Amino acid sequence: MTEGIALELAGELLRSARRIVVFSGAGLSKASGIPTYRDADGLWMNQEAVRFSHAQDLERDPAGFTRFWAQRLLAVEAARPNPGHLALAHLQRLRPSTRLVTQNVDGLLTRAGAADVLELHGSLRRWRCDHCGNRRGPWLFHRCIRCGRRARPDVVMFGEMLNKGVLLDAQVAAQESDVFLLVGSTAVVYPAADLPQQALANGGQLITLNAEPLALDHSATAVLHGKAEELLPLLVEGVGLPPGSA
Ligand code: APR
Repeated sequence: MTEGIALELAGELLRSARRIVVFSGAGLSKASGIPTYRDADGLWMNQEAVRFSHAQDLERDPAGFTRFWAQRLLAVEAARPNPGHLALAHLQRLRPSTRLVTQNVDGLLTRAGAADVLELHGSLRRWRCDHCGNRRGPWLFHRCIRCGRRARPDVVMFGEMLNKGVLLDAQVAAQESDVFLLVGSTAVVYPAADLPQQALANGGQLITLNAEPLALDHSATAVLHGKAEELLPLLVEGVGLPPGSA
């Protein structure tokens, strides 16, 4: 299938969809300067990033942990939503039942104007104190103002559970979707990676949009290989047209 036909097919699927779920990964934010995880220049090539993404490092090296995540927060705050984020926020305005489910912790979909984003892996822009339960701050140099202990980002670290309510909402949305659009994710980390399967198992049609081929492409009705920041605006501009119009 050529890219043009795949784009047209994907556009038609979205135009005629009743319930769309968009499941995004780090590829969506690459154009905003946020590294992915598994690309050649990805975060997991950085040993410090690997070390400070495990829950036990919170206790083992609290100062190093805070330093690493504070630096990532600065990079995220300096980033801006790219045309891919803006297109998904626009899609949600065109189709209000659309659920945006992301593995990203950069908050860029919300900053692009999207509503009720399901942040499966939490958000680097929110911090919390696991000692006294403070979730609102204020934080003074990443310390809890209430109890003085170190605060931490509200991000799911390896070895930690996802927020049950967020995961359940995402699972229900996937199961109820008739079109499931995967954007910029290798979809290899569970339980998030199970969501496309749950959509397919309930009769949903899968669209994959990724810079490189994915194993899931074989289960997709439409496969788009390219950049999210280029393809999503093209996809979404067509959604505003009535079903059947090319
Ligand atoms: N447009 C579309 N896809 C892109 C782009 C782009 N501009 N740039 C890169 N990609 C693709 C890459 O080819 C890759 O397949 O995005 C995908 C990103 O995959 P990963 O780096 O594995 O990121 P992700 O799938 O989000 O990882 C999931 O794994 O380590 C955990 O918690 C971490 O949330 C993360 C989860």
